[in-house]
Amino acid sequence: RPGAEQWVPEDANVDELRRAAPDCRGCELWRDATQVVFSRGRQGAALMLVGEQPGDREDLEGEPFVGPAGRLLADAVDAAGIARERVYVTNAVKHFRFERRGKRRIHEKPSVAHIVACRPWLEAEFEAVQPAVVVALGATAARSVLGRTVRIGEIRGRVMPPDAAGGAPALPAPVLVTTHPSALLRIDDAADRAAAFEALVDDLRTAADAAG
Ligand code: URA
Ligand code: SF4
Repeated sequence: RPGAEQWVPEDANVDELRRAAPDCRGCELWRDATQVVFSRGRQGAALMLVGEQPGDREDLEGEPFVGPAGRLLADAVDAAGIARERVYVTNAVKHFRFERRGKRRIHEKPSVAHIVACRPWLEAEFEAVQPAVVVALGATAARSVLGRTVRIGEIRGRVMPPDAAGGAPALPAPVLVTTHPSALLRIDDAADRAAAFEALVDDLRTAADAAG
């Protein structure tokens, strides 16, 4: 059976998952990536933030959200008044997908096949972490968490019950979908960017309030 399932240990805690992830061959993305990028944070964290996939910096360092998008996300978490130890950060897809152009590596969005292949890791993280609220950052994360394609603009900022997942196995907790921090980095106008940042902070605050 394709996908990560056979590499995901059963009933594993987060440390065990982290140790097992480098062996995953659930899709072809491991081949060109430097290393797997798993998660940061501890079991029992109230908020689970799910991103898309590691970027160039994350691929090199082996840590999620350590590049420019990560700095912006950390600023937003701080601005929302959420203590960092309450947050578990991970990605829908655990290996960096890119296209090589000369010496440069250009980020390429993961396909639905990659998202589906990698989902067993996320399901195991749901089980292990038992977050109170899951936050999907952007369309790829929402596709993975909810198991269906959604328009961010239509559902963002709402705390949705766990049965909002269509087709995907039941979620452990309510879900809130918001924008991906990378989307903010692409906004040139400073005022628009500041407004988008405030909207992200608002959504994180809503999620944290729901997490109690
Ligand atoms: N963007 C993501 O979605 N995840 C990361 O880890 C870094 C950037
Ligand atoms: Fe496994 Fe996910 Fe990496 Fe694919 S992207 S090899 S499914 S960990």
